[in-house]
Amino acid sequence: SKPIRIAPSILSADFSRLGDEVRALNSAGADYIHIDVMDGHFVPNISFGPIVMESIRAQTTRPFDVHLMIAPVDLYIPAFAQAGADIITVHAEAGPHLHRTVQAIKAEGKRAGVSLNPATPVGVLEHVIADIDLVLIMSVNPGFGGQNFIPESLVKLRQARDLIGERDIDLEVDGGISADNAREVAAAGANVLVAGSAILSGNNPAHYAPRIAAIRDA
Ligand code: DX5
Ligand code: ZN
Repeated sequence: SKPIRIAPSILSADFSRLGDEVRALNSAGADYIHIDVMDGHFVPNISFGPIVMESIRAQTTRPFDVHLMIAPVDLYIPAFAQAGADIITVHAEAGPHLHRTVQAIKAEGKRAGVSLNPATPVGVLEHVIADIDLVLIMSVNPGFGGQNFIPESLVKLRQARDLIGERDIDLEVDGGISADNAREVAAAGANVLVAGSAILSGNNPAHYAPRIAAIRDA
């Protein structure tokens, strides 16, 4: 099975010193930097776009794991690719042509991910699974950090793990992840764990390495 990767979400960063936060996560052992892009339309919050993302690209060597909570999305894929994304994840619910969207990400030479909201069944992935590099199971309703983990997500992780089978595809979980539930999401098949508030709350860089280590050890 794949190694466990920890992906801190900069949605919980102190944006007044975003570059410092990204450098601190880099040295604290983050495997990926998780970047939450929100448009105030697909989700009820607005975060930032490719200009801000590009401004922090040089602050870390870690892959940028870009979670696009925007609709429509196809139009913006080249901009996120050019701004330094390594993995581009879109929501299955964000448009009527998921297959086309996945191909647009791959046409940019990036790894393609598909995310599912809590109410969306895993079966929607059946006919794109062979084309994607990552499945992201949302374990909260997207839009905000600091929400509680939805326990039903464990069922969906197991279903997604079964669908992935022997394919070389990451299974990521996002929302309400902490050292308290890291073990059970990993046991359900997740190998990429996103955590925002569990790592960044308080925005004290001295906390980041021990908090990342605590999730990894769990
Ligand atoms: C939610 C975002 C998450 C969020 C996670 O819409 O996709 O990445 O920042 O934050 P926590 O870990 O605090 O739930
Ligand atoms: Zn996210």
